[in-house]
Amino acid sequence: MVQSLLKGAKLVLALAPLCASLASPTTASAQPTSEVLHYWTSGGEAEAVKVLKEAFEANGGRWIDAPVAGGGGDAQAAVLRARVLSGDPPSTVQIKGQNIHEWAAAGTLKTLDDEAEAGNWDALIPEVLKRVVKYEGSYVAVPINIHRVDWLWSNPEVLARVNAEPPRTWEEFNATAEKLKAAGYIPLAHGGQPWQDATLFEVVVLGIGGADFYKNALEELNEDALRSDTMVKVFDQMRKLSTYVDPGFPGREWNLATAMVMRGEAAMQIMGDWAKAEFLAAGEVPGEDFICTPTPSNNGFILNSDSFAMFRVPGEDVAEGQKLMASLVLDEELQRAFNLLKGSIPARKGVSSEGFDPCALQSMEALASAEESDALVNSLAHEIVQDGAVRGAFLDVITEHFNTDMSSQEAVNLLAETVMLAR
Ligand code: GAL
Repeated sequence: MVQSLLKGAKLVLALAPLCASLASPTTASAQPTSEVLHYWTSGGEAEAVKVLKEAFEANGGRWIDAPVAGGGGDAQAAVLRARVLSGDPPSTVQIKGQNIHEWAAAGTLKTLDDEAEAGNWDALIPEVLKRVVKYEGSYVAVPINIHRVDWLWSNPEVLARVNAEPPRTWEEFNATAEKLKAAGYIPLAHGGQPWQDATLFEVVVLGIGGADFYKNALEELNEDALRSDTMVKVFDQMRKLSTYVDPGFPGREWNLATAMVMRGEAAMQIMGDWAKAEFLAAGEVPGEDFICTPTPSNNGFILNSDSFAMFRVPGEDVAEGQKLMASLVLDEELQRAFNLLKGSIPARKGVSSEGFDPCALQSMEALASAEESDALVNSLAHEIVQDGAVRGAFLDVITEHFNTDMSSQEAVNLLAETVMLAR
């Protein structure tokens, strides 16, 4: 805790000069003001967003916090829709992937090309993120991180009770889960919410079908891929996973599932590396108190990334606040301080890896290697690919299958039908 405050203080000092470069005589009177709509309310998330807030305030900004609890952001997305439709959008919104494009297409977002020009974003933002934050050739959002979705978080003490190591293949995963279950332990900590079920699903698609199959089925929505025997096998594995969770899983928040692994009430959790932020915020040491391993796949990497978009809201103070936020998010010091706490790795190219934990270093290497071998795929569960209607079709079928005795073949048929209707 003290460490992160110190880090925050250092960051505040490092970023203070930014104030001088931004404030100009014509805008001296308008205090940069942002109402920030986000959903970072868990322990680790709150630590990370505090660093951004402190940096914004250290540069003379007035941050009006608008948090919406509920991991994965579906609750926040509903609040945003209501606010925009009632003509009262927040000025600055944590937003991702296709949602950015949908709001840009609706004409609600400010373009950030001036800020991009001033901040040299073309050189700083990796290609994989440019297509996420640009719309019709203009920047309409600024990325703050790169999260990896396909992680397995293990409690080594619980695994040791059945002489197991973190599993590296799905066969090993199932064998370990069966041993844990037989010994009376909860194999898989899970929160039964559609976005979490979809997180399991896309991890299994990558692991069983591979990156090309993942792109065919989840990115290109190829009907043959959706109806394939491989997709039947994916739902077979989802059925197995549904037998490894505890009876209390329905509706559980993701970070409460992470806490179950921390406390040794469950052995493993499949979740993006925002879960690592929970372990770190609790003072847990990677490699000792918890182990991070990629979920079984052929060196794949499922990419998720958070960005900030600026909605069209009147007022000189708002415009200054949006300009300040856009210039802060990609600042090198901010990128380090925020991502160290968020569990993600920097969105900005060239940030030193010094001080990042072994899981983050593994993520940096895996990202580069996945790009090399064309095994980098984009998260559907976390809205990097597919619009709301198609994503909703996937989430509905995945969650229904997970929570009922629907057969794999029925799930495949229903998925193909609903996705084809929604696209
Ligand atoms: C993801 C988001 C992450 C993380 C997670 C849990 O969709 O990109 O930043 O916070 O939800 O809320």
